[in-house]
Amino acid sequence: MTALDSGKADTPVANLVESFVRATPDRLGEEFRRLAAKVWEAGTVTAAAPDAVPALVAALDTAPAPAQRARLALLLGLLAEASAPSAEAASVRQAVHSRLPGYLELLLGTAEAAADEPIRQALLFLVAHFPEDREEILAVAGKIDLGEEDLSRLERCLKPLDADDPAVTRVWPYPAVWSSLDEADRDFDRQWMRQLPAEQLALAWTLDTQSLLAYSGARAFWTCERGAVVGGPEPDLTLPTVEGVTAAEADPLGGHGAALRCPSCHAPLQVSNAAATCTGCGVRHPVVDGYLDLSAGAGDAFDPMTRTVPRRYSDIRPAFLRWKGSNWDGEVTVSGEDEYLRTHVRPVDGPILDLAAGTGRWTSVLAETFGADRVIALDLSRAMMEETRRGLPEVFGVRGNALALPFTDASLGAVNCWNALQSLPDPAPAIAEVGRCLRPGGTFTLMTFRPSLDPLYRYFQTRPFGLVPVTLSDPEQLRGQLAAAGMRVREQYTPGSFLFITAVRDRD
Ligand SMILES: C[S@@+](CC[C@H](N)C(=O)[O-])C[C@H]1O[C@@H](n2cnc3c(N)ncnc32)[C@H](O)[C@@H]1O
Repeated sequence: MTALDSGKADTPVANLVESFVRATPDRLGEEFRRLAAKVWEAGTVTAAAPDAVPALVAALDTAPAPAQRARLALLLGLLAEASAPSAEAASVRQAVHSRLPGYLELLLGTAEAAADEPIRQALLFLVAHFPEDREEILAVAGKIDLGEEDLSRLERCLKPLDADDPAVTRVWPYPAVWSSLDEADRDFDRQWMRQLPAEQLALAWTLDTQSLLAYSGARAFWTCERGAVVGGPEPDLTLPTVEGVTAAEADPLGGHGAALRCPSCHAPLQVSNAAATCTGCGVRHPVVDGYLDLSAGAGDAFDPMTRTVPRRYSDIRPAFLRWKGSNWDGEVTVSGEDEYLRTHVRPVDGPILDLAAGTGRWTSVLAETFGADRVIALDLSRAMMEETRRGLPEVFGVRGNALALPFTDASLGAVNCWNALQSLPDPAPAIAEVGRCLRPGGTFTLMTFRPSLDPLYRYFQTRPFGLVPVTLSDPEQLRGQLAAAGMRVREQYTPGSFLFITAVRDRD
């Protein structure tokens, strides 16, 4: 039985509200979960919810402690968001919505004290569900000093889709982050977005809104449970550009010809005219901007979406780790991640693959530790490969697909897949590919996310990330997938809702 299940007993909602309002600080979290479970379950309203709203709203006015009012506002937001396509859910939303003036008054009252952060965050999450009152809500938001993060997120949640200026996908974790894109990037984005079919545009818009609400709700939940989020300047994750390196590698296979294979038929590749041609199926794989493109077209559809992501990576990645990894207390740090790799990557002979290398920030740790000539950076995104190439021209780069690795069996000395398995709809095929390509004794290090043990947080955590899939990995299931691919877990570390694993390839 989970903590949430305990609220499903036949206790009347009025009693649960009463117990919650009377709870001492040490019992608050538990009493809140019992109350929440009575009216809400994994994104849907329960049968008790319609009658409960007046009691919840009344308690929002009368509860003595700010920590109680903050949780009530959060719960009302969850009820407003509940998605079940039922008359019940609609009437619950309407009942929650009808008290908007009261929420706005409370929000206005949070203008002064820093101690009001939990209730301010919870109210922002709550009122962001009522786009029909956009003007009124923003008028109040304008009177409190919200800062560009909260304000731009709220504005976007309340905004209707404008098909002529859609701005989809460039809004997370808050739209103001994207305001510094240059005109060329903006033009590229506008053209790409305008070409999206109306249906896809509407879907992207809705998913973006859900991602912003989820981030806002997760943050409010954290502040209710633990107080303020640990902030502070994040380190810059952009590698300095190495000037003057634009030419392709002298060897298009980067000295890794023994390991590289055609992604489709696994036949060896032959070098000709600054390209690699498959000796089996004859397909020619070009060298583009200094990296070898062995993607065989697999990433072309999602390419425009990632085009400008490297520019904002230093903002997006830490926010993503906070949301998916519950890293609001900053327990996992960039230097800690670096240290994990230095400690746990143990290559045997053969190249070290950084799988889904992104902008190359963690590829650089592998290159520093083991030598650039041993490392291969692989990613499906053209923009990511370009970025890695700019920062790490001495590392061989391959555009390729985790689901069809362009390497021969048992050819790699180690594989690292950092903060990336969650990007695949199903990690199992990629893990099978790693097992196929890794040499016995070589390590497979990975960092990804597991479902939070808290059902309320888990709801926020599992909400969409725009159009990009995010698959959370259950540790036991992942261990099973690793075992099926011939790998044994040597080390597991699970701070927050992260999952760090080091596995070793068995001898067959
Ligand atoms: C969240 S980023 C992580 C990047 C980097 N490892 C880090 O920790 O910052 C996930 C990366 O996975 C890449 N990716 C997604 N699907 C992929 C696939 N099928 N094959 C290879 N890379 C993929 C994306 O392009 C993106 O760069």
